Amino acid sequence: MDEFHYQAGVLHCEGVPLPEIARGAGTPAYVYSYSALERAYRELDEAFGDLDHLVCYAVKANGNLAVLRALASFGAGADIVSGGELYRAMRAGFDPKKVVFAGVGKTDEEIMAGLGERILLFNVESVSELEHLERLAARHGKQARVSLRVNPDVDAGTHDHVSTGRAFDKFGIPVDEALALAERISEYRCVDIMGVHQHIGSQITKLDPFVESVEKTADLVEELKRRGHDIKYFNIGGGLGIRYNDEETPTPKDLVDAIRPTLEATGAKILCEMGRYISGNAGALITSVVYRKRSGEKDFIVADAGMNDLLRPSLYDAHHEVRSVQEDGSVSNADLVGPVCESGDYLARNRELPDAHEGDLLAVMSAGAYGFAMASNYNSRRRPAEILVRGDRWAVVREREHMADLVKGELVPAFL
Ligand SMILES: Cc1ncc(COP(=O)(O)O)c(C=O)c1O
Repeated sequence: MDEFHYQAGVLHCEGVPLPEIARGAGTPAYVYSYSALERAYRELDEAFGDLDHLVCYAVKANGNLAVLRALASFGAGADIVSGGELYRAMRAGFDPKKVVFAGVGKTDEEIMAGLGERILLFNVESVSELEHLERLAARHGKQARVSLRVNPDVDAGTHDHVSTGRAFDKFGIPVDEALALAERISEYRCVDIMGVHQHIGSQITKLDPFVESVEKTADLVEELKRRGHDIKYFNIGGGLGIRYNDEETPTPKDLVDAIRPTLEATGAKILCEMGRYISGNAGALITSVVYRKRSGEKDFIVADAGMNDLLRPSLYDAHHEVRSVQEDGSVSNADLVGPVCESGDYLARNRELPDAHEGDLLAVMSAGAYGFAMASNYNSRRRPAEILVRGDRWAVVREREHMADLVKGELVPAFL
């Protein structure tokens, strides 16, 4: 996370000292680095070299409009999983011809929105979905381009909740059923099969599962082509892991080099849809220490950010590095907890942490992906502000929610 660095003992994002942001925008706040987003995107893009390819950004990781606008301006496509993400992607300025739409539960309304925008591909996950797509496209005089999302039955070796490519996971179509389904699509008038898609999970730190699944899916691409289907796109999914703690993670180049011959042999345009790799290390959550507290044998640092702001530690027992914003080097063994009324509300547990005192600022690192995106109003807490830094400029790209936002849309009926 080079864009987050100490300068004269103060943690900066690019050219901006984090205390300046805390003073101006308050805490907790997510801070994103434009330059880190660009670097990660370009690293992925360049890894493919002269292979015909498109790097799509998985909007679910961080769907802030300014983040999306930046990525669209670099030339990225967008990977979406809902009508809401399609709306965001269009608002941010993505070219619909670079949008791919995955998800096991697309509703008719969402399919219609995708057809209306003439997106590049629907990644179809079931026979029922295909039937809906054909019916809706026919009724509205549209043509739908689809990729079959296959389930290659490969264990990505990641957290169970984010492993998506095993036979018993809900995603995709088994490889051996995909051939029959492709034949069936040929009978449809308004659906054209143009691609094959896979996505086996998130935060994958080993190359083997990528290699195994890409080889399996590439065999299917080859067989479909042999049977006369014009497979123009091969989407290898997202999932490349980042370093949160001491993980040894492959680089984009390691990944592409390991699968390049297989990809080349398909003759298809290669799509990938990374989220975490692009935005994960581009963001930090800054939080103020509210109290220090000792309870029995334990030391607690109570911060103003909690599980509603950053859920990953509570949900996955995920590790995020915690840095003091004013560098002083002293540490203490403590839990960093939030104000939410759950014992599971923690940002770091039983860890050597900066020995922060009331009023000190801490930065929870690698929080740019699945951070704000998973934030909630639990405990009627307002979701935090989001800030984008570019060089020595910074801007609030999402206001901290107001009290009125907490009850927005709620109505008290006349019979009360
Ligand atoms: C279909 C699909 N594509 C891409 C991604 C992005 O994954 P990551 O952020 O790990 O790259 C996900 C996330 O789970 C996904 O479900």
